[in-house]
Amino acid sequence: MRRALSLILLAGGVGSRMRSATPKQYLPLRGKTIACHSLDIFSKHPDIEQRIVVCASEFRHHFEGYDVEFADPGPRRQDSLQNGLKKARAPWILTHDAARPLLSLQVLEALLATEAEAATLALPAKNTLKRSCRSQHVIETVDRSEIWEVQTPQLIKRSVLDRGFLAAGEETVTDDVSFAELVGCPVQIISGSPCNIKITTPEDLHIAEALYAKI
Ligand code: C5P
Repeated sequence: MRRALSLILLAGGVGSRMRSATPKQYLPLRGKTIACHSLDIFSKHPDIEQRIVVCASEFRHHFEGYDVEFADPGPRRQDSLQNGLKKARAPWILTHDAARPLLSLQVLEALLATEAEAATLALPAKNTLKRSCRSQHVIETVDRSEIWEVQTPQLIKRSVLDRGFLAAGEETVTDDVSFAELVGCPVQIISGSPCNIKITTPEDLHIAEALYAKI
């Protein structure tokens, strides 16, 4: 479905799990920062009329030459999203983690083809899942047939997101379609890709190098 979109690229995290002084999204991958790889696929897309990068001022030079607007990061991911949203002009919002540099056009188009008001990429859980208590003793095995691992991009109608922020109040969420869930808006799951990994730990960088050579 064709629609006018504002992209919000979330690049405001500090990436503590990477054990690096530089936030993970500004580390290099094949001669370019991870965040720029994550932005590239959206740069020439005809439906995206505005690109907003949520990014601390000291890292903005990485986006020189790109047609982007900037917003300041907040303490939580959702605060960064809210700051980006204040600058957004389109009736539809597409959010993407700056730490996911390997999204393919085919997968992006599959997400954008939906007619739902909120949608996310996701993959079915592959591993057996257990719930544990604090001392790491198993309480139960979770039925994984209903469990999905969520990726970005996520697509949400602007009006739904605005209502979701009001409904959330101080509640913390970990992704953007959670705001649709909070107001009872159905969220459609679209098949993501195993290549669309989020760079989180140093090991992920090696995996991304290998996948980059493949896609
Ligand atoms: O921390 P996590 O890996 O879940 O972050 C996902 C994305 O959200 C990253 O690209 C990160 O830079 C961004 N983020 C942000 N502002 C925060 C926290 C995370 O823009 N306060």
